[in-house]
Amino acid sequence: MFIKNTWYVAAWDKEVTTDGLFARTIIGVPVLMYRKENGDIVALEDRCCHRGAPLSAGRREGDCVRCMYHGLKFDAQGQCIEAPAQPRIPPQARVRTFPVVQRHRWIWIWMGDPGRADPALIAETPWLDHPDWRSLDGYIHYDVNYLLICDNLLDFSHLPFVHPTTLGGSADYAANQPKVERLGNGVRITRWALDIDPPPFAAAIKNWAGTVDRWNIYNFTVPAILLMDSGMAPAGQGAREGNRDGAIEFRGCQAITPETDHSTHYFFAHPHNFSIDNPEVTSSVHQSVVDAFEEDRDIITAQHKSLSLAPDFRMVAFGIDAALNQFRWMVSRQLQQEAAEAAAAHATVSIVQAQDAEPASSKV
Ligand code: FES
Ligand SMILES: [Fe+2]
Repeated sequence: MFIKNTWYVAAWDKEVTTDGLFARTIIGVPVLMYRKENGDIVALEDRCCHRGAPLSAGRREGDCVRCMYHGLKFDAQGQCIEAPAQPRIPPQARVRTFPVVQRHRWIWIWMGDPGRADPALIAETPWLDHPDWRSLDGYIHYDVNYLLICDNLLDFSHLPFVHPTTLGGSADYAANQPKVERLGNGVRITRWALDIDPPPFAAAIKNWAGTVDRWNIYNFTVPAILLMDSGMAPAGQGAREGNRDGAIEFRGCQAITPETDHSTHYFFAHPHNFSIDNPEVTSSVHQSVVDAFEEDRDIITAQHKSLSLAPDFRMVAFGIDAALNQFRWMVSRQLQQEAAEAAAAHATVSIVQAQDAEPASSKV
């Protein structure tokens, strides 16, 4: 079960083109995306309303797509507008469409009630295309439920253990308790580690005279969006109090989008605002992050396999689980709310149907 009334990242902008058909499953629903000739993005359910063949196996015809099983043609609104050998097309011959918005390089999709798809609710990621920041596009596919990835991202105490040669650094990092604050739709985590050795990825791009003060400050919001201010400055100069002289800074943008119950899309970038004209620095930062995220994938996939062997396994809670417990509680609360709304809507429809079915003689 997934939250529906929220914006999910569906793709990087470059993945959806004016001449192709791009298929991606989002929260268990197959979606076909393409760009119209004017560049606008179309998102249709990737399942022909005739016999269920994927439209992504079809053919572009201008701004329309033709199913290449029996030849139905659909317009960008999902309406069937042509059927071979049948001039009259029933109005219900259509496929579902989804609201989509392209913003700062990410294409966002709304899988719930289209009437509630307010673009103002989309998380802001200006660093993805801002001229003062540089990053490369990242995507990883996972064969686990998305909440296990959220758990990982909500507790950075794993850094020295999972990422000793990339993002990690000294074990002191894990000893620092983060501050966890509740947001309306997520949590905010502030973690400082003072006077520690620079982690390997930072040592690879800058010569540090000594230890550093390192920060990771991020919002993690529903459905699963991580936006982070992170960096490090020479130790002891007061970075925590706001002095970022000589610091290196990043604005991590990560979006975790469920594909199915047991698979997940992971979109990420790690923009930096120093050495922006040096592509080697950008590529070194990116590669460190990719390597680290593959380390995460290894341990999380192993955890998933372990857990799947023991459905009754009961985890033992530790203090480091505070943020992920709060986040999981928020997800459950929104799922319950959506289930209650769906049940109420269903009850209303049933009453209306019962009234419509009532024999005329019994009506006053
Ligand atoms: S399944 Fe698409 S036309 Fe028959
Ligand atoms: Fe990690």
